[in-house]
Amino acid sequence: WAIHAPYVEAINRLKAERNAVILAHNYMTPEIYHGVADFVGDSLQLAIRASEVDAEVIVQCGVHFMAETSKILNPAKTVLIPDREAGCSLAESVTPADIEAMRVRHPGAPVVTYVNTSAEVKAVSDVCCTSSNAAQIVAAMESETVIMAPDKHLARNVAKQVPHKNIVWWDGACVVHERFTAADLRQFREGRPDALIIAHPECPTDVVAEADFSGSTSGIIDFVRRERPREAMLVTECSMASNISDELPEVEFVGPCNMCPYMKTITLEKILWSLHAMEGAVEVPAGIAAKARLPIERMIALSR
Ligand code: 13P
Ligand code: SF4
Repeated sequence: WAIHAPYVEAINRLKAERNAVILAHNYMTPEIYHGVADFVGDSLQLAIRASEVDAEVIVQCGVHFMAETSKILNPAKTVLIPDREAGCSLAESVTPADIEAMRVRHPGAPVVTYVNTSAEVKAVSDVCCTSSNAAQIVAAMESETVIMAPDKHLARNVAKQVPHKNIVWWDGACVVHERFTAADLRQFREGRPDALIIAHPECPTDVVAEADFSGSTSGIIDFVRRERPREAMLVTECSMASNISDELPEVEFVGPCNMCPYMKTITLEKILWSLHAMEGAVEVPAGIAAKARLPIERMIALSR
């Protein structure tokens, strides 16, 4: 921590000078999560919080689609992303043309897109979802057939929860969660029969089936806080366990985790530079933003 202190102090000072708030995703490293963030959360919580920010500047410590969502929901604010290269394998896997092609293949079916998409893709969608509300949103659709994009694993996991829907999905995947296998989890459980295994729903269905619980990043944190197991394996990004281990010293976090290369491009150094130079402002063309706002707002209304 001592090595981070000068950056943490400088960022917190600049935040006050610039009238800025830092919204950070649960996958940020501990020095960002504990040292400089004003609000931490999963994608849905970050979107809702962004829409309520009064400060002039939002520094989005997360990936690009999260910064776009903040800008769309609160367009009068300056939204900075400390590294413009902070993408997402899911967001990069699907284009508006792909969505239109799916609509042609499944006429009349509503398009539910994961928030892990570009503003352009949201603009041609009917409603968005996140990992915390996907089943709820799909269940709320009137049509029996529902198009889900771009995460095939999330779609398959939702299909199990909402069996009366005929879900058709795009072939995208998260590079972090797709790497976990059910065989790894079974082998792990043999050695640690008492450990609670908790998996993000971007994992393949057989991985989620091996887990004791599946939920969004904040759902996972809340579950561990509630259950306080002696041992827990978080089948998700590595910073999750690091961020909550100080708060829960009685829980031993065990087992493998994977790093998100995109989330890890955000560092204290880049946050400081972006606040200092006011660099990394995210802009969404007005026409796209107006269309993309509707499915995000529908999602927020349906999740209440
Ligand atoms: P959450 O909405 O669960 O925070 O997920 C976002 C994400 O990118 C997970 O990989
Ligand atoms: Fe995208 Fe996966 Fe990284 Fe989340 S963990 S930002 S879904 S690549």
